[in-house]
Amino acid sequence: MELFKELKWYFIQEWKRYTGTFILLTIMTLLQLLPSKIIGSTIDLILSHQSSDQEILLKISQIITISIVVYILRYFWRILLFGASNQLTSQLREKFCFALLQQDAKFYSKYRNGDLISRATNDIDRIVFAAGEGILTIIDSFVLGCSIIIVMSIQTNWKLSFFSLTPMPIMAIMIKRYGKLLYTTFQQSQKHFSYLNNQAQDSLSNIHMIRNFGLEKTEIKKFSIVANNVKKKDFQVSKIDAQLDPIIHISVALSNLFAILGGSFLITKNQLTFGQLTSFILYLGSMIWPILAFAWMFNIIERGNVSWKRIKKIIFYNKKKTIPFNIVNINSLKDLTVNIKKFSFPERKNSSLHNIKLCVPRHTTLGICGPTGSGKTTLIRLIQQHFILSHGYINYHKHNIKNIHIKKWRKIISVVNQIPFLFSDSILNNIGFGKKNATFKEIKNVAKLACIHNDIKKLPQGYHTKIGEKGIKLSGGQKQRITIARAFLVPSKILILDDPLSSVDHDTEHKIINNIHKYTQKNKITTIIATHRLSILEKFNNIVVLKNGTVIQEGSHKKLLSSQNWYSEMYNYQKFK
Ligand SMILES: Nc1ncnc2c1ncn2[C@@H]1O[C@H](COP(=O)(O)OP(=O)(O)OP(=O)(O)O)[C@@H](O)[C@H]1O
Ligand SMILES: [Mg+2]
Repeated sequence: MELFKELKWYFIQEWKRYTGTFILLTIMTLLQLLPSKIIGSTIDLILSHQSSDQEILLKISQIITISIVVYILRYFWRILLFGASNQLTSQLREKFCFALLQQDAKFYSKYRNGDLISRATNDIDRIVFAAGEGILTIIDSFVLGCSIIIVMSIQTNWKLSFFSLTPMPIMAIMIKRYGKLLYTTFQQSQKHFSYLNNQAQDSLSNIHMIRNFGLEKTEIKKFSIVANNVKKKDFQVSKIDAQLDPIIHISVALSNLFAILGGSFLITKNQLTFGQLTSFILYLGSMIWPILAFAWMFNIIERGNVSWKRIKKIIFYNKKKTIPFNIVNINSLKDLTVNIKKFSFPERKNSSLHNIKLCVPRHTTLGICGPTGSGKTTLIRLIQQHFILSHGYINYHKHNIKNIHIKKWRKIISVVNQIPFLFSDSILNNIGFGKKNATFKEIKNVAKLACIHNDIKKLPQGYHTKIGEKGIKLSGGQKQRITIARAFLVPSKILILDDPLSSVDHDTEHKIINNIHKYTQKNKITTIIATHRLSILEKFNNIVVLKNGTVIQEGSHKKLLSSQNWYSEMYNYQKFK
């Protein structure tokens, strides 16, 4: 029942629908009891040979009327109850999506996409099922079960009711025992389903590479191992279900047997009529559903509980505590100061960055270069607050950026990541992503600055061309330039580009870098670029060379060229290559 306690907010919000469902279900349940009574009394009437055709027809029409009313009531409670649970689906998905948008890089290195997708779909469905069907079975088994027992005891014989219902408590104990087992087994099954999703995601996103390397068979083998595990875990869940089912059916059969034995005995003693025994057995037959519903309820709720725990982990995952700091006047801010004593990625012992001291004065340009794996992207990610720096600080005008509200900080910076990310949408929407209501003219202007406008013009639907999953229909250089155009469109204070021109030819590269200089000077923007192409750093105010996670050289292009070092060697090598 922990699930229902934690979903209290939802039940309060939807109390009207649930109260309506409860009222309609109760009326319907009570109405459903009447036919058994009518049939019993009809049999007694026929056996007494005092019945007229009219009386029998009246009884039949009573049963038909009740059936029609029950049908109508059933329609309305379903609309109410499932309307409420649909509401829960969309609210939980919204909460889940909101939680995902708040999480940092540490979270995403812990949870994989396939796992998250399985939680957002499968687990949320389970929770909603518990809040819909689960509640229905609770009301149904409770109201119908209790009403039948009361009616049976009052209208027939309480001793017979007691006697025939003796197998029920034993069944309840067994169901509870299996409930616990089902919980742990279902937990395992959901976990393995997440692994299956991860594997499917991996295979699909790397499908071309798998084919290129001719690794289809290996991949199928890998997939079938994971799928087999899911099958095994699901089978264990089914086995528990299968063990539970006969217990329920045996209990019901025993109840019927006891009713017939006890009832026949009472008839011989003239304490019960034949019609009353028929009604009693019909009532007992109506008990099958509440009993099944009772068992099913445990099943649904246990599964819902497991899924809720999995969803809770994401929704309440390490809610980032930022000290809400109000930057009153962004224009008055000045330098970006970096002082990293040590930074290690979560679950890594060795530090990726250490002893880095930098100052990037407002409106200046900083170039970051160095061998591959030297820490350029890591430094940029720390500036983006993907990770919280605990040994050292990064200050923006004397304010530690970790104390600046993340949303405000994201408005100050605009970033082009090393791996360009594009949505499966039109070029127009991809460029305009960061600025709501951007005009077509603005989008065209930034596309020209990023030297992608002419390429877009040649595409079949121009700016409205859909670019496919992650921009599959574009070249590497086109993808990079679209992400650069996207960054230009956002009115930020610091423009950060991580190896943005690695797939662009030399001429285009220089055109873009000149445009970047013009754009940032005109709009008074600080620029930070990490790159392997040293020629683009020629006009930069300051350049730092990183190696093994620390700064080994720093200065202007001229200064760095004046001595023998990594920068001058690499620059000359690239120039004459
Ligand atoms: N998410 C991560 N988790 C753990 N270690 C990481 C992670 N990202 C990077 N690293 C490690 O940090 C070090 C620096 O990586 P980084 O990506 O910053 O290098 P880089 O200078 O940008 O390289 P490149 O020029 O190839 O882009 C590397 O040793 C890398 O293995
Ligand atoms: Mg990098």
